[in-house]
Amino acid sequence: MITVTDYRTLASQLSELMKASEDPVTNAANAAALIFWSMDGLNWAGFYFKRGDRLVLGPFQGRPACVSIPVGRGVCGTAAKENRTVIVPDVHAFPGHIACDSASRSEIVIPLRKNGEVFGVLDIDSPLIARFDESDGAGLEDLARIIEEVL
Ligand code: SME
Repeated sequence: MITVTDYRTLASQLSELMKASEDPVTNAANAAALIFWSMDGLNWAGFYFKRGDRLVLGPFQGRPACVSIPVGRGVCGTAAKENRTVIVPDVHAFPGHIACDSASRSEIVIPLRKNGEVFGVLDIDSPLIARFDESDGAGLEDLARIIEEVL
């Protein structure tokens, strides 16, 4: 059993942490670390940022990952292209999933926006099947709104 994430507490911790710096790299790095170490059952948490028609790897916690993903491919590319949160209960059943860490079994990706336009994604992976549900989607979207302001 995994501990349910207290997104309300996490959001206030994130807001406080983001006040420490105005540098986007610093903020992305600390946001990835806070999320990774505050949620149960994760093996990867971090960012990809849009550069033209690709997503490039940003700050993260976890094993080294794919450095560049075409927008429209994989879970990250789908979330970026369709500008919506994507929850994948079993990555083996997701067509086009890009396996960066073979331990990953489920994944959630939240788009980051400025003026409605996607400029990156928050990607979170778990070694557990169906680790993420709609309440994680809502909680992580709240965190994404905080992160967008400081990147
Ligand atoms: N699995 C992702 C790629 C990024 S890694 O999980 C860190 C995807 O299919 O987009």
